[in-house]
Amino acid sequence: MALWSGRFTEGADAFTQQFGASLPVDEKLYAQDIAGSVAHGQMLAAQGVISAEDASAIVEGLVAIKADIEGGTLVFDVQQSEDVHMAIESELTTRIGDAGARLHTGRSRNDQVVTDTRLYAKQRASDLMDANLALRAALLETAEKHFDMILPGYTHLQHAQPVLLSHHLLAYVWMLTRDFERLAAARAAADANPLGSAALAGTTYPLDRFATTTALGFARPIPNSLDAVSDRDFLLDLMYACSVSSLHLSRLAEELILWSTSEFGFITMADSYATGSSIMPQKKNPDFAELIRGKTGRVVGDLVALMMTLKSLPLAYNKDLQEDKEGAMDAADTLEDCYRCAAGMVATMTVHPEAMMAQAQKGYLAATDVADYLAKKGMPFRQAHEVVGHLVLLCDKRGCDLEDLALDDFKAESDLCEADIADCLNLQAIVEARTTYGGTAPVAVRQQLEEAQRAYAAD
Ligand code: ARG
Repeated sequence: MALWSGRFTEGADAFTQQFGASLPVDEKLYAQDIAGSVAHGQMLAAQGVISAEDASAIVEGLVAIKADIEGGTLVFDVQQSEDVHMAIESELTTRIGDAGARLHTGRSRNDQVVTDTRLYAKQRASDLMDANLALRAALLETAEKHFDMILPGYTHLQHAQPVLLSHHLLAYVWMLTRDFERLAAARAAADANPLGSAALAGTTYPLDRFATTTALGFARPIPNSLDAVSDRDFLLDLMYACSVSSLHLSRLAEELILWSTSEFGFITMADSYATGSSIMPQKKNPDFAELIRGKTGRVVGDLVALMMTLKSLPLAYNKDLQEDKEGAMDAADTLEDCYRCAAGMVATMTVHPEAMMAQAQKGYLAATDVADYLAKKGMPFRQAHEVVGHLVLLCDKRGCDLEDLALDDFKAESDLCEADIADCLNLQAIVEARTTYGGTAPVAVRQQLEEAQRAYAAD
């Protein structure tokens, strides 16, 4: 029997019952729902709205229900209960009678559901922050282990200037450090208590919203009951944080996919992070990195879906809001799995420094440094750029590198060139010269690594 059977004469239709139900999704919120009900019941007793005996029966009943759900002996049926709130409340009333029927005094499912969802969002944000840290740890360790390795740095996916592998990996660590901050901000946004807003307007019972705020570990009560029951922007914040981090992971995944091709050969994925082919015996495919890249679409899609659901909704609660949870849960679950997969992949991949170095020798990575050499000797930089362009053309014609040119070849372009030009052609020296804060010189990257480690330790 439905909780609103008083006003209805016909029974439920099986299809609309199913269509209107959120139980398959929100049953995951059982623990939050029970915590909310315990806090509400105890507060009702403290305020003299229900008796202390009723409150203890409620608490005991809810604790037992929780144990039965977790033990698998209590399974809810969508034809009986539309959502987890009704399922638990009906079960409680079946078990303890009138005390259970008093629990919903001064409460609506409208404030109940968003209380549960906020508790859930806080928990998932924290879980994601942990998973984010685990991935950062894997990247930091890999950066430390291969600190001095040089690879080509790219712009437009063309060889640009040599960089340290540690520098390259740290770029992702910083993206993830900001993602952590976004998750923390989403957690803080969820950290406000809607309970006591009732259906939309508050209630005539003397509820103590500050008491349930403390009992449930919220930072503050939400000051407007209409706002409290009708907005889900805290889920948008969480899904935005998930979306940005997914985008970052897709970039990392894409690079690992490229790096593991025969063309690059910079890394080999561990067997457990690759799959074979059912027909081509030689294949080792980076499926898991591809999935991380691909799942970004889901996460961003989840964000956009809820944005569209919220658009133009009049105040206060509308059933449209029931659509909020599935995507938010999916976004958090997906990102958590992707973090975990990426951390394992990074920690277990084999790095091939000689392949990176060999590529760094190609593509005239020293060109900027030769131009800088001339500019530092007084030639205007634009002119120096032109001169080095000619030298690169010469190399192209001869099929050689800048390093293979004789001093006379350099001198033919500019008499500013001396024997010390050799220092600009050496990858190690090129890297070592970029000592600006945030640059690729080992001294600068060491400082950066320590900064990233400090941020990691502080998070
Ligand atoms: N299952 C509903 C949801 O997830 C709970 C709130 C229902 N409130 C209502 N007035 N129908 O949003």
